[in-house]
Amino acid sequence: EKGGYDHFMMKEMVEQPKAMMEALLSRCCENSESFGELKLNAAMMENINRIQIVACGTAFHAGMVGKYYFEKFARISVETEAASEYRYKNPIVDENTLLIVISQSGETADTLAAIRLAKECGAWVLAVTNVVGSSIAREADDVIYTNAGPEIAVASTKAYVTQIGCMMLLAAYMGRLNGKLKEADSTRIFRNLMMTPGLIEKVLDTKETIKAFADKNYRINDLFYIGRGLDLYTCMEGSLKLKEISYIHSESYAAGELKHGPLALIEEGTIVIAVCTQENVFEKMLSNIKEVKARGAHVLAIVQEAHRDIASEVDEVWVIPEMDDDITAIPTIVYLQLLAYYLAVARGCDVDKPKNLAKSVTVE
Ligand code: M6R
Repeated sequence: EKGGYDHFMMKEMVEQPKAMMEALLSRCCENSESFGELKLNAAMMENINRIQIVACGTAFHAGMVGKYYFEKFARISVETEAASEYRYKNPIVDENTLLIVISQSGETADTLAAIRLAKECGAWVLAVTNVVGSSIAREADDVIYTNAGPEIAVASTKAYVTQIGCMMLLAAYMGRLNGKLKEADSTRIFRNLMMTPGLIEKVLDTKETIKAFADKNYRINDLFYIGRGLDLYTCMEGSLKLKEISYIHSESYAAGELKHGPLALIEEGTIVIAVCTQENVFEKMLSNIKEVKARGAHVLAIVQEAHRDIASEVDEVWVIPEMDDDITAIPTIVYLQLLAYYLAVARGCDVDKPKNLAKSVTVE
C-alpha cells in the first residue's frame, strides 16, 4: 500500500509530478486555464469588492502564495488569515465578499466554521479541496478539486503543490475576468505551470544529496529558514514540515526582518537555509547571507541554476533548474519536504504519524 516505499510521506512526495499534472489537466482548455466548474462568473465578480483567503497549516501557506498571485496577476488586494483567527475576530465580510478556503481534507473544523460564518453574512464561498464530497466541498458555493489523489501521511506534501497550482490558475482566471491579465500572459502562466511536474522530478532526483546532508546534521537543535517574496512562504512551509515530523525547533523569517531581532540567535554553526530563487531580491538575500555568515552560520542556499556560483559565498548549494520566478515555490518546497523527511528518519521519528498530530483536525 506504500508502493514499495518505507513511508506514505515518501510515496506521496514521489507522486507529486503526477498529482500536479492531474490538477492542471483537469482545468486546461487550449493551453490556458479553464474553470468550467465555477458558478462564479464575470458579472458576479463585478460585485465583489473584498477577497479573503482562509485556511489552516499547510493550506494556509498555500493561501499566502495564492494572495501573491492574485495581487500580481489580477491586481486584486487579498486578505489572508488562519481560519482559527478569522472566525473569532468579527471579520468584515458581507455579500460583496469572496471567501476562498483551502483544505486538503475538507473537514478542518476551523475552516468549516469560517465558511458558515461568511455564508451567514452573505459572502460567496469558493473551496479549494482535495476530497470529493467532503463537508467543506458540500457547504461551499463553488468547489475546485485539487485532484492530488488520497493523501495519507499527516505531513501534507502533494496536496500543497496542487493547491499552489490551483491558486495560480485561479488568480490568472480572475485576472482574465477583470481584464488585468492579457491573454498571452495567462497562456504563459499555464505553460510555466505545465513544466512543474518535470521540475519537481529534477528535485526528487537529488534525494541522495539531501539524505547525506540530513545524515550528517540530524543532531541539530535548531534550523532557520530565510527568504523574501514567494520564497518566504516556502520557508514557512518548510519550517512547519520540519517541526511536524522531526521535532526539530525551527524558525522561518523574512530575511529583511533578521536584523530586527532574530539575528541575535545566530551563533557559530547554526544552520541557516537561505531560499534565494527570486531575481528581484537576489542581491538583498546575498547581503542577508553575509550577515549570518559573519556570525558563524553554516549556510545552505537554494538557487536557480544561473546563480550556482553563490557557492563561493555559502557552505552548501542546492540548485533548481532555470524557470520563471513565479513557479519556483513548487520545486523548491520539494527540497524542504525531503530535508524534513530525511532528518526525521535519521532521528528515528514516526514520519507518517507524528506525535500529537492528526491528519485532519475535526475538533478545535
Ligand atoms: O485538511 P486541511 O488542509 O484543512 O488541513 C490543514 C492543516 O491541518 C494541515 O495542513 C496541517 O498543517 C498538515 N499536517 C501540515 O503538514
